[in-house]
Amino acid sequence: MSAVVFSGVTKSFGSTLVIPNLDLTVESGSFTVLVGPSGCGKSTVLRMIAGLEDVSSGRISIDGEDVTDLEPSSRGIAMVFQSYALYPHMTVAENIGFGLKLGKLPKTEIEQRVLEAATTLQLENLLERRPRELSGGQRQRVAIGRAIVRQPKVFLFDEPLSNLDAKLRVQTRAEIAQLHRRIKATFIYVTHDQVEAMTMSDRIAVMMDGEILQCDAPSVIYEDPDDIRVAEFIGSPKINILPIEHNEGILSLFGRSFGRVSSVIKKDFFQMGLRPEALCLSKSDGMLSGSIVHVENLGAEVYAQVDLTDQDVRVTFRASPAERHLLSLGALVSLRFNPTDAMIFDAQGERQRSLEFSEAKPLKIAYDVYG
Ligand SMILES: Nc1ncnc2c1ncn2[C@@H]1O[C@H](COP(=O)(O)OP(=O)(O)OP(=O)(O)O)[C@@H](O)[C@H]1O
Ligand SMILES: [Mg+2]
Repeated sequence: MSAVVFSGVTKSFGSTLVIPNLDLTVESGSFTVLVGPSGCGKSTVLRMIAGLEDVSSGRISIDGEDVTDLEPSSRGIAMVFQSYALYPHMTVAENIGFGLKLGKLPKTEIEQRVLEAATTLQLENLLERRPRELSGGQRQRVAIGRAIVRQPKVFLFDEPLSNLDAKLRVQTRAEIAQLHRRIKATFIYVTHDQVEAMTMSDRIAVMMDGEILQCDAPSVIYEDPDDIRVAEFIGSPKINILPIEHNEGILSLFGRSFGRVSSVIKKDFFQMGLRPEALCLSKSDGMLSGSIVHVENLGAEVYAQVDLTDQDVRVTFRASPAERHLLSLGALVSLRFNPTDAMIFDAQGERQRSLEFSEAKPLKIAYDVYG
């Protein structure tokens, strides 16, 4: 069952076209994260689901019902904003129950639902406090409580963690993911933070310039992106992009061939993507060499940046803590990669799987890429 479906939705503000043509299906019960750079249209998409913003054309349905022309209150959704939007003069209990009071529910039912939500969110001891007497994380939980009591089919979150400090963000991230597993409603969550996207969701929709580039499981988005913009947006440190040449089946990097593929394309230039963990130090002469210009030691892993000799290209690779002593600034290093880890994109950034190596395909290696 699909929870939310966009069919040919467009959105303009005045003469500015923000969403050119959106088709998106969000599965019922999924935790779908909408991620993309600032200004790409994420909040606009969420606000159109909520009914806070009209569509310019196209239709939106929720649980099979066309809601395009319905009021926000009739759509079965609840939205949690970045700015919590709590009423300062009301207690936690009053804030959580406010929407139900407006909906004229009986007092005892309001009390019961508020208590249930507060227990779920571990706020039961704070019900009589006012927002100013709460921490940022507790305020955010109250805002989520206000959404829970309405028992919506779809929860919409717009960057709910961006006002929290780093540690609290990690903790609240886990809490929201647990909440989703417990209440099994559909969550649509907007963020520009790719770590949030990777860790919380079961589906990620990567958005740029009002367009969804890919919508898939997090592991697919990371390991098998369709588009170079997706590959570059997801992953930290960023994926390495290197120019490669293809000539009658031979792929080469900086003039050195590194493998043969069965391709009917005669000759062209492509771009190769290699994640930092796909590059490693080589004892012998690897495919790439250069000098270390920066080292980031994260404890369990170390990332080092290398300026390639005679090329205007910088690459990042992941080293193990055991290799740390080899990573002094200025040190000359040689790097190797396994060609099956390479993702190949054309000049426009579209993935070219026909030029890639698979484990199954026998590799005729013209140069020792394994080092
Ligand atoms: N009410 C409005 N009037 C005019 N333009 C708007 C309006 N709301 C949004 N926009 C424009 O639409 C585009 C998308 O905005 P939106 O808020 O959806 O981006 P976003 O992806 O949520 O960005 P952020 O990550 O910064 O929150 C932006 O260029 C923005 O300036
Ligand atoms: Mg936004």
